[in-house]
Amino acid sequence: MKKITLLFSFCLLSISAAIAQSISSPDSDLQMEFSISEDGSPVYKLDFKGKAVIKPSKLGFDLKEEEDLLNGFSIKDTKTSSFDETWEPVWGEYKEVRNQYNELEVRLLQEATSRELVLRFRLYDDGLGLRYEFPQQKSLGHFVIKEEKTQFAMAGDHTAFWIPGDYDTQEYDYTESRLSEIRGKMESSITANLSQTSFSNTGVQTSLMMKSDDGLYINLHEAALVDYSTMHLNLDDENMIFESWLTPGAKGDKGYLIAPTHSPWRVVMVSDDARDIPASQIIYNLNEPSKIDDTSWIKPMKYIGVWWEMITGKSSWHYTDEFQAVRLGETNFEEAEPNDTHAANTEHVKEYIDFAAEHGFDGVLVEGWNIGWEDWFGHSKDYVFDFVTPYPDFDVKEIQDYAASKDVEMIMHHETSSSVRNYERHLDTAYQFMKKYGYNAVKSGYVGDILPRAENHYSQWMIDHYLYAIKKAADYEIMINAHEAVRPTGLARTWPNLIANESARGTEYQAFGGSKPNHVTVLPFTRLLGGPMDYTPGIFEMDISKLNPDNNSHVNSTIANQLALYVTMYSPLQMAADLPENYMRFPDAFQFIKDVAIDWDNSIYLEAEPGDYLTIARKEKGGNNWFVGNVNGNDNRMSSIKFDFLDKDKVYIATVYSDAPDAHYKRNPQAYEIKKYRVDHKSKINQMSVPGGGYAISIMEASKDEAKGLQKL
Ligand code: NOJ
Ligand code: CA
Repeated sequence: MKKITLLFSFCLLSISAAIAQSISSPDSDLQMEFSISEDGSPVYKLDFKGKAVIKPSKLGFDLKEEEDLLNGFSIKDTKTSSFDETWEPVWGEYKEVRNQYNELEVRLLQEATSRELVLRFRLYDDGLGLRYEFPQQKSLGHFVIKEEKTQFAMAGDHTAFWIPGDYDTQEYDYTESRLSEIRGKMESSITANLSQTSFSNTGVQTSLMMKSDDGLYINLHEAALVDYSTMHLNLDDENMIFESWLTPGAKGDKGYLIAPTHSPWRVVMVSDDARDIPASQIIYNLNEPSKIDDTSWIKPMKYIGVWWEMITGKSSWHYTDEFQAVRLGETNFEEAEPNDTHAANTEHVKEYIDFAAEHGFDGVLVEGWNIGWEDWFGHSKDYVFDFVTPYPDFDVKEIQDYAASKDVEMIMHHETSSSVRNYERHLDTAYQFMKKYGYNAVKSGYVGDILPRAENHYSQWMIDHYLYAIKKAADYEIMINAHEAVRPTGLARTWPNLIANESARGTEYQAFGGSKPNHVTVLPFTRLLGGPMDYTPGIFEMDISKLNPDNNSHVNSTIANQLALYVTMYSPLQMAADLPENYMRFPDAFQFIKDVAIDWDNSIYLEAEPGDYLTIARKEKGGNNWFVGNVNGNDNRMSSIKFDFLDKDKVYIATVYSDAPDAHYKRNPQAYEIKKYRVDHKSKINQMSVPGGGYAISIMEASKDEAKGLQKL
């Protein structure tokens, strides 16, 4: 990532008295004020255009053995500075990202202990980042966090889009409620997962999206989560004050720190225009520039996979039904009778490769290729997979040669089954095996409870593991897409080989009972703020019993909504998740998935309201074509957009893939219409979307001749 411009200036203010310090955002809409209360507690507050966003809120730490870092502070000195740079992401929604903020650094002294603590505030036009820094000093070395006590005092009983606080999973549907209703709705919001640990009936996860009655959109999240435990938010619902609630490790401690070090950024995004929240790049801006110098091997990918057939239960990951348990190195698969549902077999994989080659996909993912799936979860088993030994019916070399001959890349799958110790022990050999056979990307996964036992998916130990796997992959020039890992906090700016994560309720849940029809109108305001999601869209057959008669799940989405997801759920890694035969039933709709770009020069958020709708136009990287996606919530809605983003001197052909008037996510999900128009920068469209529906438009540059005869929009 290249720095194009850099402007830096600062001035130093030495003050002795504990007076309030304030900074404004570059556009002056946001004001942040810092002060020290009477008992010496650090306090901050945040206003947007004169309205309170964060009322006076305290900062500090409960420490396990040492004196707490909560009060008794005085200000030693403060510095303000300004920063303005523009950087180019390796992949992303924009060609260039502006990183502009005003900063306040406050150096505090706790006189009774002689310890120093630095608070750094960065105020952007779209929000506030603040973090704690523990400088190198005589009086602070090792310390253990009992709890971080960062407060976010809300100015009202806002409407929130929340998922239950949990140390192990984010795979929940969002609940929309007033803050005061969280407690009453908590129990019904906690749906089953293979590993889950909730902690409080007012505990929620970040990113937390809120809307105030006076029209502010407020979002709480964190950025640059490195060597620290994941932050949840616990609500004091009498006073509407959120407080940080860190994820404990195996011993219940919330973090082991050594000075000099710092916390991740705590982020408050705010705007009076809902579109500014999903469009914001503040989380990336609060992360470090890329640490990978040569990024030429990092490439966005559109892929298919031997996957949905296992998720729906049509096929199996495991090879044989003969074993209740497997001991790697001892259980003999060569002599085992194969079942007739194992999908990852050479012949079947070749069919997928043929399909990928024929329809222009970059890659094929195959799950269930390696021995161990017979008892892969639920047993707290340490040694489940070795990541290098295929089942007898999966010929790695033959498949690789076949894929290479068709210019298709194979995507590796490492299900760790959360046996993380085992995975780390095998990581080098696993990555070397990938390189030997030409795999450049891996989907990893962390299903089930973590081993070492009693660690949590989001504790500091696991945060360190996820980054260890990313850094090591970078050494091998491998791209990572980690499922069930912690929700992203913008680290992909620093490590752009982290091309996606799951870390939310993905499409798989549409085969596990279904997700709420408006789920995808919330994710861009929450989960996607920290990084791309491998949501795995593109399901055309919504009645899962058609694939597996024993599975009555229903995909709560229309086909047009599925197409729109390729635009609204930004990711440089996009799957076409359904079975090839289902695409062949709807080849005209499938055309959009084939055409849509996966890397962008520009993104324009046209319409947005969390939980209700989102419409985005994106310009493909290095080209003149545009793609529009609209996803719709629970009610019929007319979307009205202008095409004024198009070049003034060009003509385009727009292909509109929309819900048919009688479509409905449940009753009639496969009813769609496709219409072609001639468009230019003066065109407009009014398009109806049904509940759980939406529309997708490809806008391809055309010559006047090509566009001739088409109706003008
Ligand atoms: C859960 C992942 O989200 C899913 O994509 C994967 O197929 C299974 N684990 C098996 O690894
Ligand atoms: Ca998952």
